[in-house]
Amino acid sequence: MDDWRSYDHAAAPYERANGSRLVGPARDLIALAGPLPDGARVLDVGTGTGVTASAAAQAGAAMVVGLDPSLPMLVTGAAVRGGFHPVAGRAIDLPFRDGSFDVVSASFVLNHFTKYQTALADMVRVVRPGGKLVVATWGPGLDELQRTWRELVSTVVGADMLRDVLKQAVPWEDRFAQRAQLEEALRDADLHHVRTESARYRFVYSIEEFLDGREAAATGRFVRSMVGDAGWVSFRERARAVYAERFADPLNDFRDVILAVGTKSVS
Ligand SMILES: C[S@@+](CC[C@H](N)C(=O)[O-])C[C@H]1O[C@@H](n2cnc3c(N)ncnc32)[C@H](O)[C@@H]1O
Repeated sequence: MDDWRSYDHAAAPYERANGSRLVGPARDLIALAGPLPDGARVLDVGTGTGVTASAAAQAGAAMVVGLDPSLPMLVTGAAVRGGFHPVAGRAIDLPFRDGSFDVVSASFVLNHFTKYQTALADMVRVVRPGGKLVVATWGPGLDELQRTWRELVSTVVGADMLRDVLKQAVPWEDRFAQRAQLEEALRDADLHHVRTESARYRFVYSIEEFLDGREAAATGRFVRSMVGDAGWVSFRERARAVYAERFADPLNDFRDVILAVGTKSVS
């Protein structure tokens, strides 16, 4: 049976919901690394469909690697945007030598790692001395749009199971929604000059696009694996009706994103 934690079956809806919308945070994250040196090499970990990898290429990086365990995410990204070398892999045991990259980035992925300390140590290992690690995470709290989704999901899975699903898929979501905790994690990974910024983005979605995003999120992937394809069609229909009744289409979603940067010491 397919593992619902994987993004393999979620690549198309993920791209429809996020491909264009996450370009703003991706550009801001790469900018936080400062001007890229000539010939800059960038690694984007958990690149998904390559939004941040592509932003690094557009910012002038000479060589960008986008690494992700999901081949369908990489294939989808490579088909719609170029500028990066897709590599299948995971954050632990990165297949690169120490100090290979000027910048390592990770957008909306740190919260997925079971052992985030080990993953961060490996990411820092492949940054060159004096190079930067930049990380983006979602800020705290749920807005009305997300609360409505959780409400719909709880009608299928129940509150306890929902908690368990989130714990399995994104165990550090709450931790890294806090700037202080994110800063602490980067300092503990031996990075210096660590700082964070919080930025608010406005995402405009049709209800259909918003539901694509929810389908690709952990809760959507889990519900889909539970109810099967036919069950999913009727669940989505119900969700569509609830959103249409409660909100104006298109939806305006204001989300806080935390952008963090740290420098690897030269000594
Ligand atoms: C929320 S998506 C973010 C994708 C992309 N960074 C973006 O901003 O659109 C999380 C991605 O992390 C990947 N991922 C999950 N566990 C991972 C791991 N251990 N190492 C690397 N990537 C991982 C998933 O396959 C997925 O593509």
